[in-house]
Amino acid sequence: MSRPKKQNYFFEQIKAIDAPLPEMKKTFAKELVLLKKICKDKKVLDVGCGPGRPADKLAKFCKEIVCIDNDPKMIKAAKKKLSKIKNVKVLYMNAFNMTFGNNKFDVSYSTYNTLGSIDEKERFLREILRVTKPKGTIMVSTWKRDKKTTEFLKKYYHYLGFKIKDINEDRTITNKWVFERMNPKKIVELFKKCGLQKIKTYEIGVWAAIIGNKPNLFK
Ligand SMILES: C[S@@+](CC[C@H](N)C(=O)[O-])C[C@H]1O[C@@H](n2cnc3c(N)ncnc32)[C@H](O)[C@@H]1O
Repeated sequence: MSRPKKQNYFFEQIKAIDAPLPEMKKTFAKELVLLKKICKDKKVLDVGCGPGRPADKLAKFCKEIVCIDNDPKMIKAAKKKLSKIKNVKVLYMNAFNMTFGNNKFDVSYSTYNTLGSIDEKERFLREILRVTKPKGTIMVSTWKRDKKTTEFLKKYYHYLGFKIKDINEDRTITNKWVFERMNPKKIVELFKKCGLQKIKTYEIGVWAAIIGNKPNLFK
């Protein structure tokens, strides 16, 4: 899948998050319910935090949230949104080479199909696993796989200002980026391959969330 070297859809992404369509609002609300359950009183890592959602609403339920992103504009927007929340840290960092030591976080999550916008998904997941504590929890989310979601995505990308060149269940090719739609079943396979256990899939609005645990004795 060939993409430009750098992301070039900052304003569209800000609109997606700050002026969400009703379907996305519902999805964000359902995601928060799920994240609250797994992150309560925990030390949490938000990988690819964008402009600071869902950390802004989740922080009050957690011990601490560390948010990372490798886009300076996103980090600036996240700092603006999150600077007043005492238990949130925002760091400019590449998810493929995090500067944290091993086994630091109780829960690590990467939401909004971040996995679908990057290459080298296994390397990405393994690096998240490295910094997550044994018995810790990992959550990622992606678009659901049904026709209804494909129809929704046509409306969604158009609303955000993208020109759709082609769309199917696997990806949306726009004038600015190719957005891959990870198959939730493939994410489950990837979780298993990386050694995650107790894997579960949840439907949250237009997304599927996949949750798994890092085993206690992890090599
Ligand atoms: C779809 S946005 C998700 C924003 C936010 N997490 C949310 O759910 O609303 C994906 C984010 O991942 C970030 N990202 C992509 N590759 C990354 C990497 N290698 N390291 C850190 N962040 C990355 C992008 O800059 C972007 O802000």
